[in-house]
Amino acid sequence: MANKKDFLKEQIQHIDIKKYDVVPLVDAMEKMAFSARTLNRAARIYDTMLRDKECSIILTLAGSLFSAGLKRVVYDMVMNNMVDAIVSTGAIIVDQDFFEALGFRHYIGTQFSDDNQLRDLAIDRIYDTYIDEDELRVCDETTAKVADSLEPRPYSSREFIWEMGRYLEEQGGPKADDSVVWAAYKKNVPIFVPAFSDCSAGFGLVMHQTQNPGKHVSLDSAKDFLELTKIKLEGKTTGIFMIGGGVPKNFTQDIVVAADILEGKADMHKYAIQVTVADERDGALSGSTLKEASSWGKVETTFEQMVYSEATIAMPLIAGYGYHKGAWKNRQPKAYQKLFVGEKVVI
Ligand SMILES: NC(=O)c1ccc[n+]([C@@H]2O[C@H](COP(=O)([O-])OP(=O)(O)OC[C@H]3O[C@@H](n4cnc5c(N)ncnc54)[C@H](O)[C@@H]3O)[C@@H](O)[C@H]2O)c1
Repeated sequence: MANKKDFLKEQIQHIDIKKYDVVPLVDAMEKMAFSARTLNRAARIYDTMLRDKECSIILTLAGSLFSAGLKRVVYDMVMNNMVDAIVSTGAIIVDQDFFEALGFRHYIGTQFSDDNQLRDLAIDRIYDTYIDEDELRVCDETTAKVADSLEPRPYSSREFIWEMGRYLEEQGGPKADDSVVWAAYKKNVPIFVPAFSDCSAGFGLVMHQTQNPGKHVSLDSAKDFLELTKIKLEGKTTGIFMIGGGVPKNFTQDIVVAADILEGKADMHKYAIQVTVADERDGALSGSTLKEASSWGKVETTFEQMVYSEATIAMPLIAGYGYHKGAWKNRQPKAYQKLFVGEKVVI
């Protein structure tokens, strides 16, 4: 009889963009067609964002990106001042990043497995990747522990994730050589997860609120929206680098409108690129084009590019292009986490 260890053998390895100079490859794509040419243009727009000293770069993340080996790409972006704020789904930040920071791993599997057998062994599957469900439960419990340690009141997800970074720091650092939650804590890069309970953290918060019915920590997603809007108001010129769509994409596009409501006149996002597999025909947000977003007054049309590609292929090329072109060496950190000093988080 097969046991768990037979399935959880070979770990997913995170790609290291620092190791591969993709600049000549991506430059050569400029004279090709289809997705190669759009990817080239998106990479050049990202490089332009990094060169524009006024520009604040917001990275949005959706999809199972870190379980698929993209965690170190974002870690390197944070550590090398290539991003100023992150807006993500909870699964990426909690179930995948924080999970690995606690010492757990994702494993190479197959989509052709017997899922009933996986269920019996408490192995979860994300397409061709396996996760130990028992380890995920430890991740749920740890977020409950973080909530238990906090003063009971409503928190933005940014505040809560900062506390998760502090938790890792107090435990002697992450038990993985790259954690985005921890890197963002060290580098003062705020992370927002507007639908924070829709992931492992939700299970932790359910435990926390059940055990503390009168006084407990809760999440305030309007506070997230206000805080992210404050970054827009502070930064003025903004560029968005979007992987996938979903809530992170819409939330980040909408801060232009919120800033406009608060201060009368806000600049649209000056730069915008999106990598996605969604198309526009269903009218849903994830596949809506950036050109369409300009009709809503959210994105300027001069520097925008959609790239129709699965993220594990396109993201290392675009981020790697930005890294090896080196414009980040001349950027000043925006350290937007510090904007919120005095709002209960002490840095
Ligand atoms: N993905 C998971 O394994 C997982 C696990 C637990 C909880 N959740 C929760 O479910 C909600 C939805 O998250 P989600 O991760 O499924 O994203 P999502 O369904 O919101 O993704 C939105 C869109 O992004 C695009 N996209 C996603 N992955 C892509 C990729 N690899 N390459 C290119 N485009 C891609 C697709 O067009 C998709 O429609 C979140 O709240 C998340 O926390 C997800």
